[in-house]
Amino acid sequence: MAKAMLVVTLLAVVLAVWLGVYQKKWKAGGAVNPEWLQRSLKGKTALITGANSGIGYETALQLVKQGASVIVASRDIKRATDAVDAINKLTNTNLAEFIHPLDLSSLKSVREFAKKVGDRPIDYLINNAGVMIPEWSTTEDGFEIQYQTNHLSHFLLTKLLLENVKKVNGRVINVSSVGHNFCRSVDWTDVKGSQSDWMKFVLYGRSKLANILFSKELAERGIISYSLHPGGVSTELGRHSAGYYQFTKTYEQFALMFFKTPWEGAQTTLYAVLCDEKQVPNGSYLADCDIGSTFNPLVSDKESQHKLWETSEEFIKL
Ligand SMILES: NC(=O)c1ccc[n+]([C@@H]2O[C@H](COP(=O)([O-])OP(=O)(O)OC[C@H]3O[C@@H](n4cnc5c(N)ncnc54)[C@H](OP(=O)(O)O)[C@@H]3O)[C@@H](O)[C@H]2O)c1
Repeated sequence: MAKAMLVVTLLAVVLAVWLGVYQKKWKAGGAVNPEWLQRSLKGKTALITGANSGIGYETALQLVKQGASVIVASRDIKRATDAVDAINKLTNTNLAEFIHPLDLSSLKSVREFAKKVGDRPIDYLINNAGVMIPEWSTTEDGFEIQYQTNHLSHFLLTKLLLENVKKVNGRVINVSSVGHNFCRSVDWTDVKGSQSDWMKFVLYGRSKLANILFSKELAERGIISYSLHPGGVSTELGRHSAGYYQFTKTYEQFALMFFKTPWEGAQTTLYAVLCDEKQVPNGSYLADCDIGSTFNPLVSDKESQHKLWETSEEFIKL
């Protein structure tokens, strides 16, 4: 009996290690063509929301390495300046900068931030910041927290900075998620108040579906725009969700075998920044540095896409 247990345990360990190694290779997904990462971006400017941590930080670091100026758009001055200092130190430059706090749970904050950006040209507006499955709550503007942080405030920021992007034929990149598949029916007018019974991951999915539809609508309006799923990435994203975070922290080493590192997670964002828009159809949803697949028919629902734009415009006027 003891021998059998030992054999089973050994087999389980071998399987776990094999799965880990295999998964690590598989889950790392596509990587940007290394030659693209040598290209000079001198004179280009990127604005990245949530660049103080995770995928946003790695994206910012790489773009600075390539010579771009990067505005680190974050709500927390300390976390933002720590990131800016780290990037500048690592690259021996002054290309990363923090100009003003940006709190995406406040439309007022978005407006103040955009004013500080002024008329600076923006080559890459990367709407990356996000929260995932926090407790249900509404913002000071009255919108469900994930809807506003992940979509509506980015919608407002993009609208306010659209001329900055247009004057350099720049692009808008929306970091979405495979989680958009959780949301199978949507009423874009219904984003306030009485949703406390909605499951929070459906609300996450809804905000991430909005990211995809927003890119598609921008593309229809003549702006270069991509949305993307970065993969399952080992970041702090789960910190807003006590149970999930505790689980991944407790089993961190195990979880790490199956998740991308933040650098691997930044690959598809970098692909969206660096790809040739003539090769990759405008408005595409990307994953693993390629066109991504989706199981959600709402992604190609034009009516929903237009309704999202229309309602978002109304909401930012409130
Ligand atoms: N990690 C994954 O597996 C995964 C999978 C699919 C999609 N994504 C998407 O990838 C994006 C980046 O996430 P990540 O994994 O890199 O997680 P992360 O390390 O937690 O980064 C999220 C960033 O968003 C910022 N943020 C959150 N709420 C904000 C607010 N109200 N105002 C301004 N900034 C705010 C955070 O700032 P603070 O530090 O101040 O909180 C942080 O900088 C998110 O949009 C997420 O949905 C991630």
